[in-house]
Amino acid sequence: MAVVTTKLDRLNKAIDLASYQKKVEEIDFMIRNGTGEGADFLGWVNWPVDYDKEEVARIKKCAEYVRANYDILIVCGIGGSYLGARAAIEAINGQFGHTKPEIIWLGQNLDPNYVSQVMDYVKDKRFAVNVISKSGTTTETAVAFRLVKKLLEERDGKEAARKAIFATTDKENGALLKLSIKEGYERFILPANIGGRFSVQTAVGLFPIAVAGIDPEEILRGSADARLDAMEKDLSKNEAYKYAVARHVIYTRDHKAAEFLISYGPNVQQLAEWWKQLYGESEGKGGKSLLPCSATFTTDLHSMGQYIQDGSDVFFETVLHFLGNQLDVDIPEDEENLDGLNYLCGHKLSYVQEKAYEGTLKAHSEDGHRSNIVLDVEKMSAHTMGYLFYFFEIACGMSAYLNGVNPFNQPGVEIYKKNMFKLLGKPGYEK
Ligand code: PA5
Repeated sequence: MAVVTTKLDRLNKAIDLASYQKKVEEIDFMIRNGTGEGADFLGWVNWPVDYDKEEVARIKKCAEYVRANYDILIVCGIGGSYLGARAAIEAINGQFGHTKPEIIWLGQNLDPNYVSQVMDYVKDKRFAVNVISKSGTTTETAVAFRLVKKLLEERDGKEAARKAIFATTDKENGALLKLSIKEGYERFILPANIGGRFSVQTAVGLFPIAVAGIDPEEILRGSADARLDAMEKDLSKNEAYKYAVARHVIYTRDHKAAEFLISYGPNVQQLAEWWKQLYGESEGKGGKSLLPCSATFTTDLHSMGQYIQDGSDVFFETVLHFLGNQLDVDIPEDEENLDGLNYLCGHKLSYVQEKAYEGTLKAHSEDGHRSNIVLDVEKMSAHTMGYLFYFFEIACGMSAYLNGVNPFNQPGVEIYKKNMFKLLGKPGYEK
């Protein structure tokens, strides 16, 4: 079975995939041969097979060193420089103490409360730092890094701080590169031809993932398998491109404005956050494209569920449906049965969740008339996660080009930065 299968039998109106075959072939050629807009940022396409093997070996070695010597890894990064690692670690390890060293995410906000609390939490603990920034000038990341660097240097001395700090940045440019060379930090590369939101399979994602005890090569193997599957020429058998075409048709033909990525369970919530950045930043340009939203069921069925069932008709759902669980529990019997749950005895919780999924799908698609794309996904693992990353990346490239948008720039993000720098009086931004 494929790791991901795109099912289109729950759409309001069927899609004639064959009519997109030629267009998809043309765009696929553009992606693989770099003939479209943004072609300088296509390094991710073959990265799962072309990656720097020596660097991955070094990542594993350094990760072992961190695992053996520290209780915490602070990852300083924002957007594409942290979301993928967080998504993988939470999806694979969960959130309750299965990740050792503990990973703390910093540098993804400017909230004095959050930053102060992190500083207070780590001040007496053994911690290492992975600062990740391609540009090296991102304010959130740079401020956070300055704080933890100072704490380490003042507490443990310059040499101990040097050993505890790992920098992931551009090979040739940027403030973080200069600083890392000057301070002698161990360095990993974010290749110039890979944008942040397509970088989880590089050191950006792989180092924190390896520190969390997950094999980075399994992530790469998953991505390599997805790369191979995405080479399938027949659109009806190419699951990633099928997903891209379906969302494009629902946007253009059915005039939906938003896509909800639905997942079942808090451990994959961060995968949805990564997905939202990938699609939002890649496609939201020129007044176009679907608004990527997410909801976690069954939790959000008790909050957003009413709207999704019965609110404005502006969206469709894409449901991540995992075919199996890493863990499960039995529903226990209770002699008194005061809660009336004995009818579920002998079943596992996964059975109850599966029925909730089936019931919700029916309610939303049949009664609510919401189009639902269902992605059947193999049980979560490092391989599955690597596969999903590449699946969504290549589908995103296809989807953006179908929409006439350059997937690889983000001109809109710069506007808030310019205003903020001007207000802060950053040199060069006075006017
Ligand atoms: O996808 C992107 O390009 C962005 O989300 C960046 O990853 C994010 O802005 C962080 O940039 P940098 O790595 O330069 O600090």
